[in-house]
Amino acid sequence: MGGQSGVIADFSRFEEITLTYNVDLMPNHPQTEDCGDGHGAFKLRGALNAVFSLDEKQATNGVATHSSGNHAAALALAAKLRGIPSYLVLPNNAPQFKMDNVKRYGGNVILCDPNMKSREETARKVLNETGAVLVPSSNDARIISGQGTVALEFLDEVPELDTLIVPISGGGLISGVAIAAKSINPTIRVLGAEPKGADDAAQSKASGSVITLSQTNTIADGLRASLGDLTWPIVRDFVDGIITVSDIEIIQAMRSCYEILKLAVEPSAAVALAAVMSENFKGNPDWKDSRNVGIVLSGGNVDLRYLWESLNKM
Ligand SMILES: Cc1ncc(COP(=O)(O)O)c(C=O)c1O
Repeated sequence: MGGQSGVIADFSRFEEITLTYNVDLMPNHPQTEDCGDGHGAFKLRGALNAVFSLDEKQATNGVATHSSGNHAAALALAAKLRGIPSYLVLPNNAPQFKMDNVKRYGGNVILCDPNMKSREETARKVLNETGAVLVPSSNDARIISGQGTVALEFLDEVPELDTLIVPISGGGLISGVAIAAKSINPTIRVLGAEPKGADDAAQSKASGSVITLSQTNTIADGLRASLGDLTWPIVRDFVDGIITVSDIEIIQAMRSCYEILKLAVEPSAAVALAAVMSENFKGNPDWKDSRNVGIVLSGGNVDLRYLWESLNKM
């Protein structure tokens, strides 16, 4: 999808590691060209795949979802491109500019309380009232396969990658990436990157069953969801480990993205760069042989006011 990619740095202890990056901030899908708009996250891949795989009858009443923002905007855009209505349930604490994105694409925004129970209840009500089809943000085969194109393109551009680091929340992105990457190169290492304040995937991997958190606390507003019954088995069996990082490390990584790459990367994406720079990765003996590390910088929807405030607090 025409992202930028290249080598950004060699990392201290691993003199041999070439750190590569793949940024997909303006997906170049043929159907998005007319709209002339940068959606700002990988989520459009899965949303387009899901919306365009509905038959005419299924699509009649539109699509609906609950999401912290990026998937909602992607679904609104995909629905607009297909010419069908969309209904997006967003937590009332979602960043304003993410809500604006959804509205810009013609989506109908319905606010709910910022917890999973309220999100699910409100979405159920919307589905009953509208007859729309639910398109989950990650726990959905169409979404997983759409997100998997990230790995196909990354490995196509940089075939020598031996490790991929991927932000994880509901697990749609990393599931698609792990399946696609390991089907091309079964020995490739796929690692999740997660904020310490929403470390349900790390806890799930450690305990061997899905852990959901009643509360999360992180600047990475896109990474507060939990694994589902489709994504969990894929994460359990194909993801080689989860690296957790603090919000301070995420903010530092965002800063590096600006200073070194000249890129606007949101916290939920910078988490992957933070993971690579962390001792949890560099000091892990199991991963010492990682040489060519690909980092999925998954979105650029940054609330600049919030970012400046965070940087000033450091
Ligand atoms: C920018 C960004 N990166 C990564 C993710 C994680 O994706 P997934 O929920 O498929 O794990 C999200 C989810 O919203 C996101 O917004």
